[in-house]
Amino acid sequence: MRDEQRKFRRRLLAWYACHRRDLPWRASLDPYRVWISEIMLQQTRVAAVIEHYREFLRRFPTVEKLAAAREASVLAAWSGLGYYRRARMMHAAARVIVREHGGKFPASEEGLRELPGVGRYTAAAIASIAFGEPVAVVDGNVERVLQRLAGKRLAGEDLWTAANHLLDAKRSGDFNQAMMELGAVVCTPRAPGCLTCPVLELCAMRGEFPTQTKAARQKKREIHYALDCRNGDCRNGEVFLVRRARDASLMPGMWELPEVRADGLSHAEKQVPPARFASRRNDNENGRANGTSTSPSFTLRHSITETDYAVRVWRGPALSRDFGNWIAVKRLGKVALTGLARKILRKAAML
Ligand code: ADE
Repeated sequence: MRDEQRKFRRRLLAWYACHRRDLPWRASLDPYRVWISEIMLQQTRVAAVIEHYREFLRRFPTVEKLAAAREASVLAAWSGLGYYRRARMMHAAARVIVREHGGKFPASEEGLRELPGVGRYTAAAIASIAFGEPVAVVDGNVERVLQRLAGKRLAGEDLWTAANHLLDAKRSGDFNQAMMELGAVVCTPRAPGCLTCPVLELCAMRGEFPTQTKAARQKKREIHYALDCRNGDCRNGEVFLVRRARDASLMPGMWELPEVRADGLSHAEKQVPPARFASRRNDNENGRANGTSTSPSFTLRHSITETDYAVRVWRGPALSRDFGNWIAVKRLGKVALTGLARKILRKAAML
């Protein structure tokens, strides 16, 4: 067993040295940078994080700068990454680090876990990568690698035990990143690249567990929004946006398009626009009028964990303008928008 562990570590680390992706957060072991990348990478794809990471560090190059920033600027810099609670907690943690630790990160997993928004995974990632502490991480990628290696489903504490058992204590930061990298690029959820796997020989599964597809797990929903513009067209005038409640559990305080509820409409009625849009000419996806009044201006898909939304966007007045604001289209880049609002406004070529 000890020989197998040694072989596993040696092969994994040699593979990582040759094949690791050149990602911006790998250029530094500064705990501030490691922390930002680890928070961003939770629930967000690497490709989507890269540009945000660079831009975020350009705006807030140090923990002191982040702590001194207004929450609205932090949320605006976070815009596009979604799950805004992460940004709020990060901001709060930056203030704790400056106020209570003189701007220095706690240098242990235990100390890091005291910070707002830092759970077991994040604390272990920062402690191992930035400080070399011998603690293993378990994220979704590592979980899959461990399960396939063992050839059985593992859950909860068993996963952390297995990860710590395999860990190369002398190179914990590289080892943890190598496990995550293997899961991300070789031991992928579907069609794993077993033939290129450095630890194939030590793997019990050598392939996928039978799983339900994402499409089968997700509910399908339809949602309608009004794209309400004034003072010019939707490219240079103002657009009406509403703000989510400050105490909403999801994306509190973020701005979004007003929803046009299709509640109570029959299935057939849902195929045509909500009544107030029926007499308006609509623009098609390319922004040209298409003259029909029964199709939305454009439709896009928005898929979140459990639900696959068909999002229908209607150019026309919001149902109510009582709660919301007119926002200059030119200022949209500075507004903390929900991920979906950003996607819609991009598709309408307003961002
Ligand atoms: N996913 C989250 N953090 C990572 C890291 N440091 N390396 C590879 N994948 C990751």
